[in-house]
Amino acid sequence: MAEEHGPPAATTDEVPEDVRSRMVLALDVDDLVVARRLARQLQPFFGTMKVGFELYTAAGPEAISMLAGMGVDVFCDVKLLDIPNTVGRAARVIGALGARYLTLHTSGGAPMLRAGVEGLREGAAGADLPEPVAMGVTVLTSEPEASHHLLHQRVTAGLDGGCGGFVCAVADIETIRRIAPAAVLATPGIRPEGAGIDDQGRVATPRHALDAGADLLIVGRPVTRAPDPQAAARALVAPLV
Ligand code: XMP
Repeated sequence: MAEEHGPPAATTDEVPEDVRSRMVLALDVDDLVVARRLARQLQPFFGTMKVGFELYTAAGPEAISMLAGMGVDVFCDVKLLDIPNTVGRAARVIGALGARYLTLHTSGGAPMLRAGVEGLREGAAGADLPEPVAMGVTVLTSEPEASHHLLHQRVTAGLDGGCGGFVCAVADIETIRRIAPAAVLATPGIRPEGAGIDDQGRVATPRHALDAGADLLIVGRPVTRAPDPQAAARALVAPLV
């Protein structure tokens, strides 16, 4: 691994733990060294780092083990969707790598989700790790809106399959909470007041997301693409502390 350069990590007592533990950084970069540098700089603001398609495609399992080794929770966002056997086996590998969260597509249906949930649990247990949380992807934030019927169908499939949480737009929290009161709800599409929305159709500010009942706030480009990511992260969490 290349030597680290750039700004040092911010002080660790800057953000209260009850805020930091809800913040998830989407490390959408194509290079493990860049990912590590961002994670190190931003770890004081984000208790969880998310590995999505881009970083997983570039660096694979090493991205997960590297982040887990830094002591942050790892959110593996590879949105598994396939036949139950394939999803179960992939989830088992990801569980053994140390991911705390794994996304599965609820559109895959309850049997596929159950296979993923069981595989994830077995993988973690086999590696002596705490039980991870399977997160059902509901309706993407880039989609203009979620029909009540579709949302209901997907969350019900997730619950039947044993998912412990869901990824959803802030606008969908109220509906999902009625069906799944105890689920962990993670919301992407988080934007500071007045920021551009990029390709996200349904966005919310961090304050609005927390007030609506989100457990985890997923943030990527507003921080990772900012000229000064630490300053952007500080400004993002300021309304929450
Ligand atoms: P940005 O840069 O838009 O990044 O702050 C958002 C991150 O979250 C992912 N994303 C989603 N994942 N359901 C998901 O499971 C969604 O509706 C959704 N919307 C965004 C996206 O891949 C990026 O990493």
